[in-house]
Amino acid sequence: MTMGLLGLFLLLFLVPHHYSLNAQPPSSCSFPAIYNFGDSNSDTGGISAAFTPIPPPYGQGFPHKYSARDCDGRLIIDFIAEKLNLPYLSAYLNSLGTNYRHGANFATGGSTIRRQNETIFQYGISPFSLDMQIVQFDQFKDRTKQMYQDNDKSVDKSKLPVPEEFAKALYTFDIGQNDLSVGFRTMSFDQMRATFPDIVNQLATAVKNIYERGGRSFWIHNTGPIGCLPVNLFYKHNMPPGYFDEYQCVNDQNLMAQEFNKQLKDRVIKLRTELPEAAITYVDVYAAKYGLISNTKKEGFDDPMKICCGYHVNDTHIWCGNLGTANGKDVYGTACENPSAAVSWDGVHYAEAANHWVANLTLNGGSFTDPPIPITQACYRH
Ligand SMILES: *[C@@H]1O[C@H](CO)[C@@H](O)[C@H](O)[C@H]1NC(C)=O
Ligand SMILES: *[C@@H]1O[C@H](CO)[C@@H](O)[C@H](O)[C@H]1NC(C)=O
Ligand SMILES: *[C@@H]1O[C@H](CO)[C@@H](O)[C@H](O)[C@H]1NC(C)=O
Repeated sequence: MTMGLLGLFLLLFLVPHHYSLNAQPPSSCSFPAIYNFGDSNSDTGGISAAFTPIPPPYGQGFPHKYSARDCDGRLIIDFIAEKLNLPYLSAYLNSLGTNYRHGANFATGGSTIRRQNETIFQYGISPFSLDMQIVQFDQFKDRTKQMYQDNDKSVDKSKLPVPEEFAKALYTFDIGQNDLSVGFRTMSFDQMRATFPDIVNQLATAVKNIYERGGRSFWIHNTGPIGCLPVNLFYKHNMPPGYFDEYQCVNDQNLMAQEFNKQLKDRVIKLRTELPEAAITYVDVYAAKYGLISNTKKEGFDDPMKICCGYHVNDTHIWCGNLGTANGKDVYGTACENPSAAVSWDGVHYAEAANHWVANLTLNGGSFTDPPIPITQACYRH
């Protein structure tokens, strides 16, 4: 066999089947760490550490005992970590049992991009808005570098990031949904639209901050179909025709999310010209989640408006993990029998099975990301 033929032979065996023989697959980026910024969709312990722990049955399907996630099991950020062969992320705010060798998570449940003038005790809005998460990241980066250099024997370096690896890390964002929910509560749709340029600019500022500190690879989720959260159905009787779409999602809310996403995508495209060495991937989580909600039967899931955990009968609503009364009796918000077929875990947050489905669709490259690359290649500028 000639070398040429042998080469072709090897290629046929080594090249993954989805690449044509002429298009060389770029090698994987081997990200050493993930730094995440976001809200409850990607909080792996922040809000539980800073305020009150998220109670069972949250976390009932999580592989480790302490989950502190708004889910029965894993979040999309956990599937990202698995995909990149990295451990699940410790929350920056968590003081116990943490390991930051391969990244840290600054997300907290209830976080917004813009600072809000409310306390968490009103509507659950986190004080750790995106600008604060970036300040925390800066502090984390500077202090770990210092600790690394000081050679203090009492510091366990094996649980700290290697300073040089910040530049090679993947920076992920999943935030914006709560800016919309605050908007629905406090503003008209026109007033909301007027805030979008500022909100997407603040996200761009966060990316620029990290870029200036050496970050180069960014993975930015857009916001999901907020109108499809089953909580929107509570107390909604005799709504006018067209209020809900055919899947019982609130039309106007989804239109606002789409408008937000359009502006976010345009801002990401502009960011690519402003940050010449950045690889920025825009991820259409909206399309993936709506794709699941509009195809649950085919995909083997339950009704997307069914809430797996909690007690929700007529107008009595007892939140997942809470105790309440219904018809004069104590009732506990328990989990459904088959969470692996659930789309919605608690009415606001997706169940692990849905997160897994969305992750399978968005992490492997294809029409849900711009550019259409798998997350393992998100360090390449296209
Ligand atoms: C919060 O209050 C400050 C000062 O009054 C104001 O400038 C800012 O726009 C407010 N933020 C929001 C999100 O309402
Ligand atoms: C819920 O409402 C329906 C229709 O009004 C009624 O028949 C049913 O008994 C109610 N269920 C409970 C548990 O109150
Ligand atoms: C996601 O992909 C994995 C690996 O291909 C598969 O085992 C799993 O069943 C998929 N999960 C869902 C919910 O699609």
